Amino acid sequence: MRKKIVAGNWKMNKNLQEGIELAKELNEALAADKPNCDVVICTPFIHLAKVSDIIDHSVIGLGAENCADKAKGAFTGEVSAEMVKSTGAEYVILGHSERREYYNETPEILKEKVLLALENGLKVIFCIGESLEQREANQQNEVVKAELEGSVFNLSAEDFQKIVIAYEPIWAIGTGKTATSDQAEEIHAYIRSVIEQKYGKEVADNTSILYGGSCKASNAPELFAKPDIDGGLIGGASLKCADFKGIIDAWK
Ligand code: PGA
Repeated sequence: MRKKIVAGNWKMNKNLQEGIELAKELNEALAADKPNCDVVICTPFIHLAKVSDIIDHSVIGLGAENCADKAKGAFTGEVSAEMVKSTGAEYVILGHSERREYYNETPEILKEKVLLALENGLKVIFCIGESLEQREANQQNEVVKAELEGSVFNLSAEDFQKIVIAYEPIWAIGTGKTATSDQAEEIHAYIRSVIEQKYGKEVADNTSILYGGSCKASNAPELFAKPDIDGGLIGGASLKCADFKGIIDAWK
């Protein structure tokens, strides 16, 4: 059966000391009260090695928020998948709408990043989702299908099983506007059907599809109760231990 996952995406928040504090606090909170799902925190690169030493990896997985589209060499300022892995991280977020929009990450670039992440033994949290304009034009299904086809449907069925999908409608990210649980369920079920067409029912049934976009403790129970919503990718509400724990507890 597919995994239930609550993953945090710290984005460009928390200096090193603040990040260490948050990781320690979360580690203690989850040691005292074991989660009923997989928990992952995705942090800025500079936090990874230290946070890796602090957390109990059997309870909290660690991930980066990005990695380079090249393996190594003269790419000043970039961080490779191999480097991410060497910190102790197990995951990497790829395809986040902020990376696509502000850093011009194309489907082809993302395809390279996904391949390098998998080659280096990282699991990928691959983000897809439509803009408000696309939703208003009722194009959300085409958009998410094209995003899957553009960057991850080249993978073998075996490799695809190392991918977690995060559906994040761009209009719901950081806006306080959540997709209703029915809206989210509808497109999650569609995403699963597209995966089934490509890889078959077993792979589709085993793929975790997370919802992201203004998910918080108050709306998580309703979202997570839907059959095709397997957890959340959490931005703002992952920055405070109590808020994030509140979402994790939605699985209880
Ligand atoms: P948000 O961000 O929870 O702050 O809306 C989600 C995300 O971008 O991953």
